[in-house]
Amino acid sequence: MLFMADEKLHIIPHNHAISRQKRNKQNGHSSVAIWFVGLSGSGKSTLANMVEQELYNDGVRTYILDGDNIRSGLNSDLDFSEESRTENIRRIGEVSKLFVDAGFVVMTAFISPFEKDREKIKEIIGVDDVIEVHVDCPLEVCEERDVKGLYAKARAGEISNFTGISSPFEIPQNPTIRVNTAENDLDTCVNQLMNIITQRLPLK
Ligand code: ADX
Repeated sequence: MLFMADEKLHIIPHNHAISRQKRNKQNGHSSVAIWFVGLSGSGKSTLANMVEQELYNDGVRTYILDGDNIRSGLNSDLDFSEESRTENIRRIGEVSKLFVDAGFVVMTAFISPFEKDREKIKEIIGVDDVIEVHVDCPLEVCEERDVKGLYAKARAGEISNFTGISSPFEIPQNPTIRVNTAENDLDTCVNQLMNIITQRLPLK
C-alpha cells in the first residue's frame, strides 16, 4: 500500500539511546558496507564468503546479503526488469544501512548493473560507509564458467533480460577497488580486498 505524501509527514524517527558509535565501540571495530558489483558468475558471492571467513576469524561481526537469497524472500515480488532491479538495489541499500547502523560489516552480492542505482546506494548509506568492489570478469569467462547454467538458457532464449546477454551491465566508473577474477586466483583477490577493508575497521 502506497502512502499519500501528507501521511509521510506523520512519521517521526526516534533516536535510540544506544548509538552506532556505542555498538562499534562494543564490537571493537567500525561498521561498513562492502558492495560487490559484477556479472552473474563473476565471483561476487564466492569472494564475499571468503572475505567473511577472514573477518569472522578476526572477530569482526559480519553478514552477507546475497542476490539469490534475498530474491527468494524480501524481494520475491521483483523480476529482472530495469525498474525491479532498481527497486531491488534500493531496498538492499536500505537494509545495508540498517546493518551498518547495527555495527556490522555487511557484504552485498548483487549484479547491481546500473551506475545510477550504485550512486543512489552511496546516498542512502553514506559515501564514507561504502566500499564499492567491482568484481571484474569478462562476459566470455562468466559464460564459460556458467556455474548455474543460466547463460546457456539465456542464449537459448529461455531467460529474458539476462545481464550481459539481453540486459545491460554498466561498468563501474569509480569503484573503491577492482578485483579481476579472470586474471588472478581467488586468494589474491581476497588479499587485495582485505588490504582495503582492514584500513576501514579501526574505530574512528
Ligand atoms: S540485480 O541485477 O537486480 O542486481 P541480482 O544480483 O539481484 O540482480 O540477481 C542476479 C541473480 O539472479 C543471478 O546471479 C542469477 O542467478 C539470477 N537471475 C535469474 N534471472 C536473471 C536475469 N534475467 N538476469 C540476471 N540474473 C538473473
